[in-house]
Amino acid sequence: MTSAPVITVINGPNLAALGSREPDVYGTATQDDLITSLEERGRALGLKVDFFQSDVEGEIVSAVNRASGGSAALVINPAGYSHYSVAIMDAMRAFPGPVAEVHISQVHSRETLRQNLVTARGADVFLAGAGIAGYLHALDILHEMITETDGGNTLAHQ
Ligand code: DQA
Repeated sequence: MTSAPVITVINGPNLAALGSREPDVYGTATQDDLITSLEERGRALGLKVDFFQSDVEGEIVSAVNRASGGSAALVINPAGYSHYSVAIMDAMRAFPGPVAEVHISQVHSRETLRQNLVTARGADVFLAGAGIAGYLHALDILHEMITETDGGNTLAHQ
């Protein structure tokens, strides 16, 4: 039996507080709710979801680099780092498979500072404003990309 492809999901700073953090912006689902939903969707798609959260930029860079060794695709919400981290963008660009950047809120309609999207330059797919469902849509899209007969190369890194 071949093992299920792994998709790594990374949450950046302050996202461990989902559910209590600005619920009017980020909703009431907690990070544990998110992990449960990701695992359920992953099982339905035949994927193993590997989840990681950190408030520290370097730990996120290291987590992306670790994922490069064995994960087929990456979902990342770099949170506040999205707006200036060249280091996370570089790690995302070096990831060999397709990368989806997800934002719970619609960053384009918020403060001007959130419209500077640095890490998005390292993403193949960008989803914002769908709430927690954005992560699940990202899994669906990445699943489709990695199960293309050419391993997703047609869709990824164009
Ligand atoms: C966020 C948007 C960022 O601007 C913010 O700093 C976050 C969350 C989102 O998911 O909507 O922490 O990435």
